[in-house]
Amino acid sequence: LSKIYFFNEHEDCLEKLNSLIDENVVFIIDSKVKKLHPTFFKENKSISLVASEKIKSFESIEQLALKLLKLNINRSSTIISIGGGSIGDAIGFLASIYMRGVRWINIPTTYLSQIDSAYGGKTAINLKDYKNLLGSFYEPVTTLVSLQFLTTLPKKEIISGKGEEYKYSIISKHIYDDYISLNRIKKLQKLKASFYKKDLFDKKDKRIFLNFGHTLAHALEKVEGSKKWSHGEAVFRGCDFNLFLTGSQRNDLPIKKKIDPQSIAKIVTAMGYDKKNLKKIKFILKEDQLVIKEFEKKEILEYLKDYVSKQ
Ligand SMILES: NC(=O)c1ccc[n+]([C@@H]2O[C@H](COP(=O)([O-])OP(=O)(O)OC[C@H]3O[C@@H](n4cnc5c(N)ncnc54)[C@H](O)[C@@H]3O)[C@@H](O)[C@H]2O)c1
Repeated sequence: LSKIYFFNEHEDCLEKLNSLIDENVVFIIDSKVKKLHPTFFKENKSISLVASEKIKSFESIEQLALKLLKLNINRSSTIISIGGGSIGDAIGFLASIYMRGVRWINIPTTYLSQIDSAYGGKTAINLKDYKNLLGSFYEPVTTLVSLQFLTTLPKKEIISGKGEEYKYSIISKHIYDDYISLNRIKKLQKLKASFYKKDLFDKKDKRIFLNFGHTLAHALEKVEGSKKWSHGEAVFRGCDFNLFLTGSQRNDLPIKKKIDPQSIAKIVTAMGYDKKNLKKIKFILKEDQLVIKEFEKKEILEYLKDYVSKQ
């Protein structure tokens, strides 16, 4: 498992990073982060990327692998990824397959990646309409978290991370709050680990509970687009719908966005396209405990119509 270190300031984070690497490294960096945090980067070999779902594709992995080759990156090199969840997912996948695996250090820079996506070793790219269909379980040797990155994160992206945090408040005893601190990030990392440590390869109906709210969320992102819904915003809606399905107490959400009634049928079809739902549609629900329930598409269609009319 990855060694994880947390820092309030870049300076301490950099000191740790420098103690872990030699000259044989390549930085693969979110171009926005590179601009906003110039003090963080030594000018060695680096590749900048515009973060979006597009980098989680075969095409971008192929181009990046060719760039690594040009930079003479080999099996004794280290790849350092710096960015949010899309960079972490894509570069982790690349690190796992380039020359059958190279040493990888990950530095997450969004709230979502610092509390969630950077942990647990799931790497992924998308294939056509199938989100995260291709991937591997591959842990970075080290994960370095610097709270200072969050000082430049737009509010929309903070809310996006808060969507995943909201999920933790439903599936565990975590108390949701707008507040952000390094201690909170550490706590959420531990909480995530409590779900994946006993189920590293997602086989034992334990880790799957981390997908609470994601059945609707992934379909929303696909049908209404990730311009309208950031991942976490979609997760807020997805969690709310799951609570609605069991008639549970729901909370006011910090997002105002609503599902377009015109999208309902397409959303239900898209739920069927999720890799975890190849036959019926699976939902993780909170009853006395967390359970997995399968629904027929037409049942979900009726529930969703009802939900959308009341959202
Ligand atoms: N592997 C997992 O376990 C897991 C879990 C949850 C989500 N994910 C994946 O994570 C991805 C979403 O991650 P994300 O929300 O971090 O998105 P992202 O990486 O696309 O980043 C969101 C935006 O924030 C910008 N940004 C990043 N760091 C910044 C900073 N410090 N200051 C200013 N702007 C900054 C980026 O340039 C981008 O515009 C999705 O692809 C999702 O599938 C993976």
